[in-house]
Amino acid sequence: MDGRDLVRSVKAVGSAGAAQGLRTVRAAWRRRRADAAGLPPRGTERARVPGPVRDVRPGAGGGVVRFARAELRIVVAVNGAVFWGWDGAGPEPSYALSGRCPEPDPRTRLEPDKDGGWRVVAERVTVVVSRHGSVEVLTPGGVSLRRELPPRWWEPVGGGPSRWTQRSEVAADARFFGLGGRASGLRLRDGTYRLWNTDPGRAFGPGDDPLYITMPVQLVVADAATHLVFQDTSWDGTVTLREGEEGAGSGHDRAGMCELRMDGGPLRCWMIVGTPARVLHTWAVLTGVPALPPSWALGHHHARWGFGDEQEVRRIVAGYREHGLPLDAVHLDIDHFDGHQVFTVDQDRFPKLPALAEELRRDGIRLVSIVDPAVKAEPGNAVYDGGSAEDAFVRDASGQVVRGVVWPGESVFPDFTHARVRAWWGRLYEERLGQGFAGFWHDMNEPTSFAAFGESTLPRSAGHALEGRGGDHREAHNVYALCMARAAYEGLCELAPEERPFIFSRSGWAGMQRYGGTWSGDVATGWPGLRASLSLVMGLGLSGVPYSGPDVGGFDGSPSPELYLRWFQLGAWLPLFRTHASLRAGRREPWEFGADVLEHARVALVERRRLLPYFMTLAHLARRTGAPYVRPLWWGAPEERALRDCEDAFLLGDCLLVAPVLDPGADRRAVQLPRGRWYDTVTEQAYEGPGQVLIDAPLSRIPVLARAGAVVPVRGDDGGLVLEVWAPALGRTGGGLVVPDEGDGWEEADIERYVTRWEGRRVVVELYGEDGVSEPSRPVRVRGLDGY
Ligand code: GLC
Repeated sequence: MDGRDLVRSVKAVGSAGAAQGLRTVRAAWRRRRADAAGLPPRGTERARVPGPVRDVRPGAGGGVVRFARAELRIVVAVNGAVFWGWDGAGPEPSYALSGRCPEPDPRTRLEPDKDGGWRVVAERVTVVVSRHGSVEVLTPGGVSLRRELPPRWWEPVGGGPSRWTQRSEVAADARFFGLGGRASGLRLRDGTYRLWNTDPGRAFGPGDDPLYITMPVQLVVADAATHLVFQDTSWDGTVTLREGEEGAGSGHDRAGMCELRMDGGPLRCWMIVGTPARVLHTWAVLTGVPALPPSWALGHHHARWGFGDEQEVRRIVAGYREHGLPLDAVHLDIDHFDGHQVFTVDQDRFPKLPALAEELRRDGIRLVSIVDPAVKAEPGNAVYDGGSAEDAFVRDASGQVVRGVVWPGESVFPDFTHARVRAWWGRLYEERLGQGFAGFWHDMNEPTSFAAFGESTLPRSAGHALEGRGGDHREAHNVYALCMARAAYEGLCELAPEERPFIFSRSGWAGMQRYGGTWSGDVATGWPGLRASLSLVMGLGLSGVPYSGPDVGGFDGSPSPELYLRWFQLGAWLPLFRTHASLRAGRREPWEFGADVLEHARVALVERRRLLPYFMTLAHLARRTGAPYVRPLWWGAPEERALRDCEDAFLLGDCLLVAPVLDPGADRRAVQLPRGRWYDTVTEQAYEGPGQVLIDAPLSRIPVLARAGAVVPVRGDDGGLVLEVWAPALGRTGGGLVVPDEGDGWEEADIERYVTRWEGRRVVVELYGEDGVSEPSRPVRVRGLDGY
């Protein structure tokens, strides 16, 4: 135990009650003992590199290149994605991939390259393998995008998993993004990022890493092309990044560098090359399309740890109503459980939950339940008894069920890497549906087990089924929450087949978008936390998870009225728009911060509701194309270098640019504009990009701009869908896609394609359908005509 651990354990004892504190001390010792017994020390290790090339075997989509001490398999898939794996590693089994692996592209050729190396030539990429085992991916024009140096393994002489290192180089102008949810981004600067899902144990800020969702997924943007690289291994590791430097024409560029160090797992990799849109699309094809949230989940949610009882929930809901504030969902945290036990209800404080749910639903408000994976280890607890009968809980290397400590005290943990356990867990949501809940908020699933010292998770030696392959927590940890989400998603599809499940989960891994979204977790209240919120949402989107949002106002403490308002105004433009805070935090209702904040928050809420059809369209497009709702400014123009460094504004779909206020005291801000004409959506003033402009940002609003020519579906006063059209620049056309869907079910909504253009002095809008061009049947409102 070092000094910091000691402080933690004293704090744990002091703050969470003496009994719980002592449990965390005991749990930490147990964890340490379990690993001492279950994980033999690594002992002597032998280093290995591939050595010189020996021969090749052509195969579908590429082939196998054999070296003296390793073997490399390369396959280019029909969708252009490149796979390579060392030492026999194939694409499957994989927790990230959805369904079947794409077919190899039969047109790919394996050819000899210079100096004894080999080359795989495909339509969109060329992969060059050097005689010592470096792997370089180039554009068809021969520009290098990434060069992976020969890997190096450290193999324990006595057997066991090999550690490995993979160093790579990227262009000097390249910028790194992704790696899951990172608070310090959006652009990932020089530093080391860990790949181990972690509950920071307190409210976090931009300096905290890792957080709840880590993923070995990098999106790299460079002049030559954008590429996504995914190291498909769930083990603990680190990614060290160093941006390159250009020698200002001197010819002495320094390449960007990335070094991956993994504790184990296969060395296998996917790489996708193209535009950002193309790359994210192929990524969604590989790992699964994002689940479509029900329409109500795109509205406003109010959560709180510590709603005292049903009456308090009613009081908050009435407050929203009385102040004319739209509300779509209320979330109940662990305090509505009986003694914090998952899948139970505290009958004293919530005696008639189904009636409350019904009452809220009549007002269009859904109830969402928190669900934690840890089950109180107590006979008589139905979930514990049922899970024990199923043999559902994680066991240690000696066969004992692993015990940890979470909110209900001593707890056990389902092994979600077992199909039978997932099926059992999925059925438990029947109880929640019976209580009237419509959505689910997965928490503490890194998984977290409180520990006074050491890591706050399960022992690394704890055993997991891993779909029958068997293994331990070193491999299962990062996919634990992903498998929990799968259990819930599949269970809900059976229990309520008419409805799209709504699940968002604190932790997860590559592919988690198949089952739902996520949220920031416990972001610290403060201006840095506000900035971290945006970084998380954008980085997750670029990692393939498009639906997320922060705790508006921050998780802890009490935001100033100004900070609360700015957070609220940002949240209103993010996919998950939810106020939430900790048990001990100050109030978060919009009316608690004075009349001005209330008024401005109302404007944000009303605008969010008006834009629901646009958010729904973005959700559908995310499902069909993999494009996140919230995109960095460089999305459509990665070659515009000034945009690559812009982290304080974002595109919301194709139509809007949102420039939140992230600093105190600001009443206007600089906004970087991509190419084209942009209209301030409040004043309708037009600006020309590319370039930087100063826009007013009084407390009443944050700048939101619409792209000239855009067609934005909005909700009209009568609730029907209206096309809000922003005048194209003179001589230009514009357009947009609209996916009308107000439902919660599975009906496929048709995409409507609109084109806008000038006809004389008039802006016209046309619907392009299968039978030709027609007038839209929906009302059209043209904006931005001043000045023409
Ligand atoms: C965790 C969650 C937080 C929740 C709390 C109590 O800290 O991140 O959102 O309120 O647990 O369940």
